Amino acid sequence: MQMYNPLLESYRALLENLGKEDLIRIIEDRDSGQGRIIRKDGRELLNFSSNDYLGLASETPCINGEGGKHRHGGAGASRLLSGGTTEHSRLEEEIALWKGTETSLLFTSGYAANTGAIPALSDEETVIFSDELNHASIIDGCRLSRARKIIYRHLDMKHLRSLLANTTSRKKIIVTESVFSMDGDIAPIDELTEIASRDKALLYIDDAHATGVLGSGKGSLAEFNISHQSFIIEMGTLSKAVGSLGGFVASTGLVRELLVNRARSLIFTTALPVHTVMTSLSNIKVIRKSPDLVKRLWKNREYLHSGLIDMKLDTGRSRTPIIPLILDDNSSALRLSDFLSGRGIYAPAIRYPTVKRPRIRITVTASHQEDDLETLLQALREALSAGLL
Ligand SMILES: Cc1ncc(COP(=O)(O)O)c(C=O)c1O
Repeated sequence: MQMYNPLLESYRALLENLGKEDLIRIIEDRDSGQGRIIRKDGRELLNFSSNDYLGLASETPCINGEGGKHRHGGAGASRLLSGGTTEHSRLEEEIALWKGTETSLLFTSGYAANTGAIPALSDEETVIFSDELNHASIIDGCRLSRARKIIYRHLDMKHLRSLLANTTSRKKIIVTESVFSMDGDIAPIDELTEIASRDKALLYIDDAHATGVLGSGKGSLAEFNISHQSFIIEMGTLSKAVGSLGGFVASTGLVRELLVNRARSLIFTTALPVHTVMTSLSNIKVIRKSPDLVKRLWKNREYLHSGLIDMKLDTGRSRTPIIPLILDDNSSALRLSDFLSGRGIYAPAIRYPTVKRPRIRITVTASHQEDDLETLLQALREALSAGLL
């Protein structure tokens, strides 16, 4: 059943008006490499729409495998003007299937997804409710939008509810990361879904650090056993657990069409190169087919985290493979990072303005071996004895 949502209704009206004026943009991917001659829908066309001025993108060698019909060169144009290929659409279908959404739409990075989608989804009548610890790309997306921004205290649902109750605007978007990038804590996606649904707001979830990590790799909604609904817009990146490059927004056909027509970071930039798209496609298939990979990540995370807790170190609210070691001041963070570096460990200090409280940010992966985790724990034990922690 479709629930009424003022913003979704406004998108329908906006697209209808564009349609009346013959201004609707659509993506038509080519089924060939970039070049003088391209193929679309089985027809060969003499191409006068690429920016591959010297023909270099189309001259770079073919990729072996996967048909070999595309080349390593750049896309040569915006997705809306011959930059996209059928591989781009295949990747979008794969993401939608994985995430359980009607559609998805690629961007050239997660940063581009947030800075393009958030302004496209809002107008001057919209109020955006944003968690105070949201990532810089979300903050920039909010700044680029014409919406009013209201910041709620980190993960504080009571605060969010009271701010929503005091807002008269009908167009509301709640924006949150699911896994917070500097703290490794998890937003209460179940409560946020309930709040958004009750308040007829949209819920925009940045799943950058949850994709490939939570919910057997599917992300935060799967972790919370919530299926996608029309008022939920999920953004993600292919540059983290997927091990490639690119961003995406997974949602309904309506939201995709709106973004194709309004997201400036999609319309006015060159599409992702096809070899990057193919890397993402193949890595998502690996994640979907190998549940052991995600399990190994979590096994390593639990091993390291319990070692840190045994040492009574302050890991903040971490519940994921992002584990901060919170320190008192900047110089302690720098000293500890140097100490670890002296023992062959790279774990940089993170300071203001990235975070309020200085820290060493540790990220554990599925590739770490038990010995690696022990090496880090041992170095931290020594740091502790040396009074560095
Ligand atoms: C929460 C969050 N959102 C978005 C991004 C941007 O993703 P990308 O690196 O693909 O631009 C990042 C990356 O640091 C992130 O941590």
